[in-house]
Amino acid sequence: GPLLMPEHGQGFHGVPQIEAACLKTCRRTRLGTPVISSDLTSIVLEARDVETGLAVSSAYRLMDDGGLAVTCKAENSGPAALDIHRAASALLPVPDWASEVLTHAGAWGREGHQARRDWPAGRIEQLGRSGRPGFDGGPTLTVCEAATTELAGRALAVHLAWSGPFRLAADRARDGSAQILAERLFFPGECRLQPGEMLLLPEAIIVQSHTGFNGLSDVFHSQFRQRSRPMRRRVQFNTWEARYFAVDESGCIALAKAAADLGAERFVLDDGWFSGRRNDTSSLGDWRVDTGQFPNGLQPLIDAVHEAGMDFGLWVEPEMVSPDSDLYRAHPDWVLGFPERNLPTGRNQLVLNLALSAVQEHLHGAITALLDTYPIAYLKWDCNRDLYPATRNGLDRSGDQTEGLYNLLDRISGTHPHVEIESCASGGGRIDAGIARFANRFWTSDATDAIDRIRIQRAASLVVPPEMLGTHVGPSPNPMTGRPVPMVFRILTALFGHFGIEADPDKMPDCDQDVLRRGIGIYRDHRDWMACGRWVRISAGASDPDVQLVIALGGNQALLRILRVDTPVRPLQPRIRLAGLEPQARYRLNEFVMEGDPPFWLVGEFSGAGLMVEGLMLDPGRALTGRLIHLERIGR
Ligand code: GLA
Repeated sequence: GPLLMPEHGQGFHGVPQIEAACLKTCRRTRLGTPVISSDLTSIVLEARDVETGLAVSSAYRLMDDGGLAVTCKAENSGPAALDIHRAASALLPVPDWASEVLTHAGAWGREGHQARRDWPAGRIEQLGRSGRPGFDGGPTLTVCEAATTELAGRALAVHLAWSGPFRLAADRARDGSAQILAERLFFPGECRLQPGEMLLLPEAIIVQSHTGFNGLSDVFHSQFRQRSRPMRRRVQFNTWEARYFAVDESGCIALAKAAADLGAERFVLDDGWFSGRRNDTSSLGDWRVDTGQFPNGLQPLIDAVHEAGMDFGLWVEPEMVSPDSDLYRAHPDWVLGFPERNLPTGRNQLVLNLALSAVQEHLHGAITALLDTYPIAYLKWDCNRDLYPATRNGLDRSGDQTEGLYNLLDRISGTHPHVEIESCASGGGRIDAGIARFANRFWTSDATDAIDRIRIQRAASLVVPPEMLGTHVGPSPNPMTGRPVPMVFRILTALFGHFGIEADPDKMPDCDQDVLRRGIGIYRDHRDWMACGRWVRISAGASDPDVQLVIALGGNQALLRILRVDTPVRPLQPRIRLAGLEPQARYRLNEFVMEGDPPFWLVGEFSGAGLMVEGLMLDPGRALTGRLIHLERIGR
């Protein structure tokens, strides 16, 4: 009891689950002993403060995949308003084996840096105050043993299914006892419960593993898959790094043909297609097709896309408005901010106040008008700045913005259930299980440099199944890093994800185009089983080579990918020991040949135990080379 809903008044000096005070009497709430009810798969704790009337109910539900879903609600059953300072969705005592904390750090275009720290005392926090989960790992926090690796050891992680401000923390008290908590962040004065009002907190997902970080991922992947609608993982072509803002009808039609010729199955028209948008200084909010660039609307382009056998996707950024836009000129009062002060812009744009029903109506109308006018299969839903200052009637109300976004997405997916949605926020700035209810793909990062992508995708795959992560073959040299990367390496990096192309085919040498066609063919042959397979990170975090495996449900086949970035120290490579195979089964291994013929060669036949215990002895390869090996189970 007390350990699950501890309070200061009980002599607990750590951080309690909920902190609130009565606005009239200034009395701090004091919950009574929780009443516990349970059945085979769930426990509910209910506690009440008789003086203020605060009633808190926390439900812990064990899910089929082994994860624990925690929800919490607070109700004001008293006569006076209550000020909620903080309220955690989940607070859980942590076993004493947990001696380290794992989070991630990063910034725009450089997501996914592991931050693993010793945790002898005090608090380690993962804080997101920007209104978007952010580039630094989002609402996930993991505690583990010092010895925990990808494949072995104990770990416990919490992820908050919420795309707004959050705080996750690992707290160790003076007596050594420890807890983790996950909460939606309220700014001062943001959460006020009037008599009779109820507060429903976002769901937290808690996962425990004794098989390393991969064990955590198994459950998180299952959770993300269950939340979002299934999607055929079509090969996408995106115009951004091919054309940036310079998109027009004839240019895009030519691009579409070239994309289809490479094997793309979806053509996504990125930024630059709407009225007056030539760069990032104008036009957000005016979601009408630009008549200069597309004099006949989008239909001729979409017809060409369809004729080439692809479907059509469109980039939008509905939450935003440019000061230089018709929408802003008509409704300057629709934006977030304190009107009497300067409005801070980010990427030259302001944020629309999604708590206003007029804004909701307008955006729903503008987006559904596009979806009703054109056969659009997919929206890349972007959000290119932080959501501040989040206000309502001059008060801080950041959670309203997130709830407004969910409401808008819910309405759009309700009326247009077949439109697939990608969550993008200048890359991987909005990746979480809350938005996964509406989005079935995430743009992992604006970095398309394949070397950086190994780290970025690997970090994101702790919670997100790779088939939901947008992974594109970009240009070489890479526009962000200036680094040239061979085509095979770029393809292999993109293959363990949701494959796409984000480069100008005309600028690719013919030989690269041929390799890309072959790579896309491999992806198309295997993506369906990969999308429900088990993804296993074999090598440790930053080690070179990076070794990963995806095993089909049922185990009849698998793909092994080895990426080598640097020249190996030794000419002989340590053996590559696989995991997750059946020890008794026999496997036939074929390596794909990306250039030249034949398209694959037989590596040999091995037992699962041999591959896992002895490992594969392979030539280490040169810097910036990779290998892709298919495993087929041929008998037990
Ligand atoms: C963001 C996205 C990019 C691209 C641009 C367009 O940065 O992450 O992929 O869509 O916006 O302006």
